[in-house]
Amino acid sequence: MSGTVFRTRSFAPSVSIVTGGGSGIGRAIATELARRGSHVVVADLDGARAKQVADDLGERGSAAEVDVVDAEAVQALVAQTAERHGRLDIMANNAGVAIGGLLEELDERHWAKALDVNLRGVINGVSAAYPVMSAQRSGHILNTASLAGLIPAPAMLPYTTTKHAVVGLSTALRAEAASRGVRVSVLCPAFVDTPLLDEVYAAPASFGGGSSVRSRVRLMQPRFLTAELVAARAVDGLASNKAVIPVGWLAHTLWRLNRYAPPVARGLVQAQVSAHRRLSRPSSS
Ligand SMILES: NC(=O)c1ccc[n+]([C@@H]2O[C@H](COP(=O)([O-])OP(=O)(O)OC[C@H]3O[C@@H](n4cnc5c(N)ncnc54)[C@H](O)[C@@H]3O)[C@@H](O)[C@H]2O)c1
Repeated sequence: MSGTVFRTRSFAPSVSIVTGGGSGIGRAIATELARRGSHVVVADLDGARAKQVADDLGERGSAAEVDVVDAEAVQALVAQTAERHGRLDIMANNAGVAIGGLLEELDERHWAKALDVNLRGVINGVSAAYPVMSAQRSGHILNTASLAGLIPAPAMLPYTTTKHAVVGLSTALRAEAASRGVRVSVLCPAFVDTPLLDEVYAAPASFGGGSSVRSRVRLMQPRFLTAELVAARAVDGLASNKAVIPVGWLAHTLWRLNRYAPPVARGLVQAQVSAHRRLSRPSSS
């Protein structure tokens, strides 16, 4: 059997869970998985948004109000899904929050929020899904990290710290999981047009009194990616079992630069900090 035939036949998910599925990238991944034939449990902290997305998916969708920080709740979500549908093919650990600001502006709240949702939330999803998938000797875990998990992303240290951790967790688990028949991929998009860009958690002063990162992000990436494009690439990446799924020209370019020309990448990152400080000056002086 050729590798291509194997990959094509093996990608027919019938049951998926998407956390953070009520909005943005999660909603688009849920929609794409449903379009490709999976039943999708749309899980989100915001139960009403999860229900709206699930309703949009019709018979292929169901909703769950779940806080990914709550390990027991995530365990219950996975157990109930596997019991009700008899299996779990895809666990998309996607819920996340935006944290921005210079180190001197950040306090324990910022670090706790990032570590709880962006890292602990992924660990909880992985820990719940892996035993189920190991037992059935199949399944695919998709963790949403970010371009900020592949390169140093200044002025958002808690965010880049947790996203690097998610890349490390995912690529290391991929090696452990292979012999159990479980696949692991990590999604690393550049900037995507979702509400996350307007909802920086407890935005510090260098954001000029607002909580949007759009104006700063546009300096690096004038046109945002759409959530639908990211979801299509993500699911293609699952079908071809890619380890790391970067999305967008900025992600591909900076990831390569960081590996093959690190001094150039460091120069660009330094320029990004300078731009952030320049934009912050009127409100922080
Ligand atoms: N938007 C971007 O530019 C971008 C780029 C790269 C990576 N990402 C990552 O993509 C993922 C999705 O982000 P998005 O842009 O779609 O944001 P979004 O704000 O549109 O959606 C995030 C969803 O996660 C949910 N959520 C937040 N905390 C939760 C919790 N504790 N438990 C359960 N659900 C929770 C929110 O209610 C929301 O529905 C995040 O992990 C984010 O870090 C986003």
